[in-house]
Amino acid sequence: MKIYKISKDLTIDNQNLKAKSLSIGFVPTMGALHEGHISLVNRAKQECDIGVVSIFVNPTQFNNAADLEKYPRTTEADIKLLEKNSADIVFIPEYKEIYPDENSTQVNFDFGNLDKVMEGKYRPGHFNGVAMVVKRLFEIVQPTKAYFGQKDIQQFAIINHLNNNYLKPLDIELVKCPIVREADGLALSSRNRLLTDEQRKNAVVISQELFAAKENYKNYSVAEVENIVKQNITEKTKFEVEYFEIVDDENLQKINDWKQANKILACIAVNVTKSLRLIDNVYF
Ligand code: PAJ
Repeated sequence: MKIYKISKDLTIDNQNLKAKSLSIGFVPTMGALHEGHISLVNRAKQECDIGVVSIFVNPTQFNNAADLEKYPRTTEADIKLLEKNSADIVFIPEYKEIYPDENSTQVNFDFGNLDKVMEGKYRPGHFNGVAMVVKRLFEIVQPTKAYFGQKDIQQFAIINHLNNNYLKPLDIELVKCPIVREADGLALSSRNRLLTDEQRKNAVVISQELFAAKENYKNYSVAEVENIVKQNITEKTKFEVEYFEIVDDENLQKINDWKQANKILACIAVNVTKSLRLIDNVYF
């Protein structure tokens, strides 16, 4: 496994690999790797000749300073895990490699209505930061395919928009991979390791309520399901439900009626504390 820290070295290497007709599968991450990330690496290795993983905690996508400061950093363990799982190349850039000057952090993207709802509404600037780093990483890595998790479903929609509207010439195929969960249903997340035992016990209620809603939704209206889920989670966990929205998977806009969407998606964000927030989603 090769480890790169310098962007242009990686670009040259990957261009050489592609010149030999080898396909490159890319998994961008912020480290603190878990089985969710590894599922993307495995998929990339199944479908492509070379598996590239990046580890970069991207400051421009954090709208909460305490969240950025507390974000787990476990680079040594990450490298070992990637080696064990047959990644070929790991890219671990310094800040300057991604953002060489002031201008590089001042890019503004237009995502239409996609970033006006849910995560976009509650985390202003978050998706613009995600798009800046992903655009830069795509330009450096120049992958054939790039792998993202359904766990961050709105992020996938944003990156899909970025790829189609701003990065067409790179000709990158995006792959959306299923959510990997703990045995009890909690979606794996790097932030789970910040939960106390008590919070971890309560956190299972989030996925339980999503699954219960999926089972029973036809007996209720959209508004009723929204209220039941919010109320149950608040009562059982004492966490604050920031939003629970039932949306059309195509545009992520809220629906009022079950017939309004081909694919119904239920998305939730829960504040465990002021700086610890969990998200999850499920298709009905
Ligand atoms: P990070 O949170 O590290 O996630 C990296 C990738 O792993 C994302 O595509 C995410 O959706 C996926 N992932 C996380 N948890 C998962 C789970 N339980 N099951 C399946 N996939 C999961 O998302 C980011 O980093 C950043 O925003 C990034 C795209 C790297 C840009 O900085």
